[in-house]
Amino acid sequence: MTGASLLPRVQIGRSKKMQLPLGMGGSFYGLDHRNRQGEAELIDALETALEYGIIHFDTATGYGDGYSERLLGRLFGAVPERRERVFLASKANLDDISAQAITAAIDASRQRLQTDYIDLYYLHWPRTGRDMRPWMEGLETARQQGKIAAIGVSNFTVPQMQALAEVGQIDAYQLGYNLLWRFSERDVLPYCAEHQIAVVAYSALAHGILAGKYARKLDFVPNDQRWTITLFKETVWPQVYDTVETFKAIARQGNYDLGQLALRWLLRRPAVTSVLVSAKNRAQLLANYAALTVDIPDAILDELTVVSDRALQFVPDEGNPFGYHP
Ligand SMILES: NC(=O)c1ccc[n+]([C@@H]2O[C@H](COP(=O)([O-])OP(=O)(O)OC[C@H]3O[C@@H](n4cnc5c(N)ncnc54)[C@H](OP(=O)(O)O)[C@@H]3O)[C@@H](O)[C@H]2O)c1
Repeated sequence: MTGASLLPRVQIGRSKKMQLPLGMGGSFYGLDHRNRQGEAELIDALETALEYGIIHFDTATGYGDGYSERLLGRLFGAVPERRERVFLASKANLDDISAQAITAAIDASRQRLQTDYIDLYYLHWPRTGRDMRPWMEGLETARQQGKIAAIGVSNFTVPQMQALAEVGQIDAYQLGYNLLWRFSERDVLPYCAEHQIAVVAYSALAHGILAGKYARKLDFVPNDQRWTITLFKETVWPQVYDTVETFKAIARQGNYDLGQLALRWLLRRPAVTSVLVSAKNRAQLLANYAALTVDIPDAILDELTVVSDRALQFVPDEGNPFGYHP
């Protein structure tokens, strides 16, 4: 079965696979990888996504140390009729900036994904201050060999993209983008528009914050990864929390689900090609899918923008939502 989307289908790179502007995230934070607890529900979410016409599945070599790629390989790569239908995107985060290193990463991803070719392969994180053009040369060779169909970069700055563009063609850019994190509107998004680079947004729900699930007092355990995320830092979080309360008040006016409003807001940004969202079970997937179909007046989205504009005054721009700069 497929649901009807209010939004037009999109194309990434020169892919013939026209797709809904919503993709399924593959980092699977909630899953206990060692015990595979939650795997059956996760598989149900992934299968339901496909059933509803979502074909874009995003993963990376680093997600669960290859677990995420292997799972998508099992579900989609290894099943010929599904493989032709789905759009598989993966990424490598390497310290070695040579062409050989990216080639080896692509081959290992193809093996885990059980596929001859990957629809889109990203450089996951840049390496500050280094010449990354050899990576791009490796990606272009892999494209010519048919191992990958499109080339992406994620979390890069404009000057870093300009350097890569000297030796290859970037098809897609993946970035953190949501109502609470919009710094790329200044430079990266105009650059992508000017160079016909598809924009794929991650952390669309701001790590779950825009699903409205966190209390004023955060109670993560001390080594929880979330403490490193800018929006959860103790100097920033109280204002983030108050802002989310204002978003919730806007949502209540029309009995909307805040997560759906947040996703629709992003889907309506002119610069955005596709929005990635994670779902650990069928219920979350269906709630997120509804962002494509529920009727939401533009006036509500405009109200969200006004509140979001104010939030940008207190959120520090750390370059990316994780303040991670390898
Ligand atoms: N390129 C990069 O550097 C990069 C970085 C981050 C992410 N990504 C990609 O983008 C994908 C999505 O990003 P993300 O996981 O950071 O962020 P997200 O989509 O903003 O947040 C996901 C979290 O929101 C909660 N959630 C999702 N749907 C929900 C619903 N309907 N109701 C209530 N809660 C809901 C889940 O939390 P619970 O598990 O607690 O329920 C989920 O883990 C990732 O899976 C990955 O593929 C890429």
